[in-house]
Amino acid sequence: ESNSFVTDFVSSLSVDTQTLQNQIDELSTFSDTPAPSVTRILYSEKDVLARRYIKNLMGLAGLSVREDAVGNIFGTWTGDEPELPPVATGSHIDAIPYSGKYDGVIGVLGAIEAINVLKRSGFKPKRSLEVIMFTSEEPTRFGISCLGSRLLAGSETLANNLMSTVDGQNTSFLDAARSAGYANNLDDLSSVFLKKGSYSAFIELHIEQGPILEEEGTSIGVVTAIAAPASIKIDFEGNGGHAGAVLMPNRNDAGLAAAELALAVEKHVVESGSIDTVGTVGILELHPGAINSIPSRSHLEIDTRDIDEKRRNIVIEKIHQSATTIANNRRVRLSEFKIINQDPPALSDKLIIEATEAASKELNLTHKKMISRAYHDSLFMARGSPMGMIFIPCYKGYSHKPEEFSSSQDIANGVKVLALTLAKLSLY
Ligand code: GLV
Ligand code: MN
Ligand code: MN
Ligand code: MN
Repeated sequence: ESNSFVTDFVSSLSVDTQTLQNQIDELSTFSDTPAPSVTRILYSEKDVLARRYIKNLMGLAGLSVREDAVGNIFGTWTGDEPELPPVATGSHIDAIPYSGKYDGVIGVLGAIEAINVLKRSGFKPKRSLEVIMFTSEEPTRFGISCLGSRLLAGSETLANNLMSTVDGQNTSFLDAARSAGYANNLDDLSSVFLKKGSYSAFIELHIEQGPILEEEGTSIGVVTAIAAPASIKIDFEGNGGHAGAVLMPNRNDAGLAAAELALAVEKHVVESGSIDTVGTVGILELHPGAINSIPSRSHLEIDTRDIDEKRRNIVIEKIHQSATTIANNRRVRLSEFKIINQDPPALSDKLIIEATEAASKELNLTHKKMISRAYHDSLFMARGSPMGMIFIPCYKGYSHKPEEFSSSQDIANGVKVLALTLAKLSLY
């Protein structure tokens, strides 16, 4: 392979930045809350419209499109050796309430554009290239993150649980999936499972969701590991009562138990002594939710993560101990302590890291290795195939809020690195 071949190929890669930006803007209009916020919940009307939009773009890119029983969408560009395991790339387009338009989206629209870039350059893949749009990376509707990729990774537990899972409105997962055109005529969800080794590589393009690349003026982050996420649901129950009539010594206030536990979560996280340990009480609900009624029930949902799994597990154990102690001291009942997920971290594959670094170098883009503190479908794709991720800068590291932003230039850089990395991995 001569140097001028590489130089010619690299300089032939051109991203249609304007079209890609228009697609990002258009996709953001499929939302249940006003711009600039985006809210796109699994199997909602807007999600179904957004899915149609993605499938249409995959078709226009010449990909053959198929969907599985939960709506993971696959678009394939058949390579010269289609019997080899393909190289896959992709991300998600669901959006948590009042979030932004880049999280996940650039890894789907950007992947389709990366295919277009390679096609325009005249590239012929050896291994097939596949773009995947994962179902419900976000836990918003059914409380479980990375629903689609967890199933692809073969989670029997999730497949079984989903047969009886309901959302906050008591709509079952299966009814919701059917209303979106999925999950028809099935006895179980095992058809979604992928065999190990189904892909020779999986690589995901994503905004950093942190401030490092922008602060340092670095174009590309090459992810080496994804931190280990966990989530917990907790309920306290007390007797409630009249806010005027029940005197303080006679109360068992479920709301105060929740408040105390929320502060305990912060304490246990900080006690780990590592900046890498984080914990968040993102949901705290009081029942009946009236100003003059002592909360008789409280519900908390806690997210905690660490790059070190053991340290993260210690935090979970301490949260459990605190919940028990607080319940005893306040004479409320700890009626639920449920660990929803307690996932290990994932390491990127050495060859994919090297391919991404080489691609960045050949494109004259500054790059650095970094960890992902956010989780991604890549965390689960890593269970069945070698995994890698490409990060691009985003404004002030903002994410999961409407101010989320990445420049067209940064997105185009990411798409180019993705395209070149896919090309390399396809030829391995
Ligand atoms: C993904 O959305 C995450 O919460 O890390
Ligand atoms: Mn997200
Ligand atoms: Mn995401
Ligand atoms: Mn509950």
